Amino acid sequence: MSSTVKALVFDVYGTMFDVLSISEACEEKFPGKGEEVGKTWHSKQMEYLFLHQLMGKYIPFSEVTKEALRFSVKEHAEEELDAAEEQGLFEAFLRLAPYPEVADMLGQLKGKELSVFSNGSHNMLDPLVENAGYTSFFSGIISVDEIKQFKPSLYSYQYLLNKIGLKHEEVLFVSSNNWDVAGAKNFGFQTAWINRKKQTVDELGLDPDFIFDDLTGLLKWK
Ligand code: LAC
Repeated sequence: MSSTVKALVFDVYGTMFDVLSISEACEEKFPGKGEEVGKTWHSKQMEYLFLHQLMGKYIPFSEVTKEALRFSVKEHAEEELDAAEEQGLFEAFLRLAPYPEVADMLGQLKGKELSVFSNGSHNMLDPLVENAGYTSFFSGIISVDEIKQFKPSLYSYQYLLNKIGLKHEEVLFVSSNNWDVAGAKNFGFQTAWINRKKQTVDELGLDPDFIFDDLTGLLKWK
């Protein structure tokens, strides 16, 4: 089955970049509370992403991220940020730390068509990928903001397939997020779960086709 792969599509947050590197910026702002502010910020960001999708109340991921930040600051620091402070912390998402193997792996996969597909809005994705020096690796940076439907909705993956113009089975979807690989599998893509946190496979009847500890496992397609 894996021989039909013509394109690899990468998720972003958690897959190529360590989301919890936001905790460093949180620690500068809230000494001693950075890790908990960052963890709540990320978990609420995911919760709100799913709630906005299920409620049919799509807003750009940049706004979801700011909603989650406001909650986390209120929860842990019992204060409210002014607009400049909020923007300053938000911009930590534009400078997330790439995982150590990413640049080398993307370079070794350059013979394949590589693209990005993320719930992130372009005002977050484009600077993040550019700041990391990864833009030239990809034939496209595709955001769900173009269709206003978050992953793991079927609509979002259908939009991706329409954009890249291949058959379902010709796409290997790469993500560290369990709900994202399940969504991509549900849609019909081949899936590679980058199981960085050594999580247990979910009981959704949508097991990943491939499971790797990090992106080095993708070299079988170089
Ligand atoms: C992404 C994360 C949220 O879409 O899965 O990049």
